[in-house]
Amino acid sequence: MATPFPETMPAAMPSDGRNRAIAPGTARPARRRRGRAWRRLARCTLVIGALAIIVGPGAPAARATEDSVEPLTQTALALTADPVHGHAQFARYCARCHGASGRGDVNRRIPVLANQRFAYLVRQLASLSEEARDSANMHHALSATVAHDPQTWADVAAYLSTARAPSHTQAGDGRHVALGEATYRILCASCHHDDAWGDDDGFVPSLRNQNYAYLLSQMGRIPALHRRGIDENFAALIRSLKPDEAAGLADYLSRQRGPTPRQ
Ligand code: HEC
Ligand code: HEC
Repeated sequence: MATPFPETMPAAMPSDGRNRAIAPGTARPARRRRGRAWRRLARCTLVIGALAIIVGPGAPAARATEDSVEPLTQTALALTADPVHGHAQFARYCARCHGASGRGDVNRRIPVLANQRFAYLVRQLASLSEEARDSANMHHALSATVAHDPQTWADVAAYLSTARAPSHTQAGDGRHVALGEATYRILCASCHHDDAWGDDDGFVPSLRNQNYAYLLSQMGRIPALHRRGIDENFAALIRSLKPDEAAGLADYLSRQRGPTPRQ
């Protein structure tokens, strides 16, 4: 296996995020199915507005492939999903990295997928498959197999979203859990739900049952728009976190367990 581990990420959380902002005119329209989530972000603007935003570096240019993510996602969601077939495909193509039951690999920062939301999983598979989200490991995994197929995404997501969540996840050192919980309530719960299982539609991911290192690595990479489809305001929100807040959030969330709704 020639692909690198771990995925590239900043050595530390950016600490100057509160003085950064999005170049005007770079915002892309919110996705149709996620409109509700992004409208909720408007309610967070008072919080974000307090972050003394000035003009900072612009977003990287969108790739052409990004435009295909939404139609491919909708195509996959309209199919009849077969979780039994999905389980077999997962065992064949995915389990060597994500673990036999989708429970991830802490050392390689490979995420837990078991019990993640169905629509979110489908969208991420479309996005990773189209290389609108960076991950050399996933691009390789999806291009080399029948995994580059909306039916497979629907089947695998149907299996994973109903798979049992792990009973144990890697947590942080506990020093900033209280700060993390307080920050979560103020900045994150409006979209990810009080219980951190995501939104009603399932496009906002569950942050439960996930490992600390993966959560922290995503918070380090989202501000650099390694997922090109996300809203720049969300990236700015994550960028605004101080290192202690980010560590506390990842630590608090990694201790949240239990089942999530399927859809
Ligand atoms: C070579 C190892 C490897 C293989 C094989 C692999 N993955 Fe991954 N996968 C990763 C890594 C590493 C990440 C985290 C990427 C990042 O840091 O953004 C990931 C991320 C994901 C995500 C995003 C999860 C989230 O919470 O956003 C999904 C969904 C996913 N993989 C599904 C699959 C499926 C389905 C297969 C089989 C078709 C598969 N993976 C095969 C390594 C792998
Ligand atoms: C406006 C709604 C919104 C708010 C507020 C929000 N998020 Fe998110 N978050 C999302 C969406 C939507 C995604 C999925 C992005 C995608 O499709 O790639 C996401 C993805 C994530 C992920 C990646 C999960 C994974 O499995 O890879 C993490 C980590 C995360 N958010 C943490 C946070 C934290 C911490 C906060 C608060 C500081 C927060 N979010 C606030 C909407 C939001």
